[in-house]
Amino acid sequence: MEYKYLTKEVIEKIEYFKNKYLTKEQAIIPSLHTIQEIYRDIPHEAVRELSDYLKIPEAEIEGIVTFYDMFRFEKKARNHIRLCRNLPCHLAGSRKFLRMLEKLTGAEAGGHSPDGKWYIELVECIGSCAIAPSFLINYDLYDGSSIKSEEDLKKILERYD
Ligand code: FES
Repeated sequence: MEYKYLTKEVIEKIEYFKNKYLTKEQAIIPSLHTIQEIYRDIPHEAVRELSDYLKIPEAEIEGIVTFYDMFRFEKKARNHIRLCRNLPCHLAGSRKFLRMLEKLTGAEAGGHSPDGKWYIELVECIGSCAIAPSFLINYDLYDGSSIKSEEDLKKILERYD
């Protein structure tokens, strides 16, 4: 994985924390402080990179960012859609689903809508393969297989401000 936010400088600090503490988990918080100091907030992509670098699940690091008031995620949009891109969801039609999402929100995968309402992110398995193609809007989980038309999806999107 190529890193955008984990620059050489950031990685040197992470290595310092890894050596200083007994477990790599203990390096998460100081590493997040470093990222936030440099970027002013914590980009979601930086969490993914940190997860990859430390070999710690992304959800664990995200949980820490969300739990502590001292950390703030980069605000990309008012609502964050995460659509699974792994094989079971792909086979169940996540690509087609993405096209519908993009059309209805005006956002593209990896970007936000011009009105700042939506941000779409393609993510790894979110543990809901039984309802593939599955997706989250903020923290609400949806069963993509139950959405049969653009109209169904539109009704869901309308629940969000
Ligand atoms: S593969 Fe999509 S939720 Fe698991």
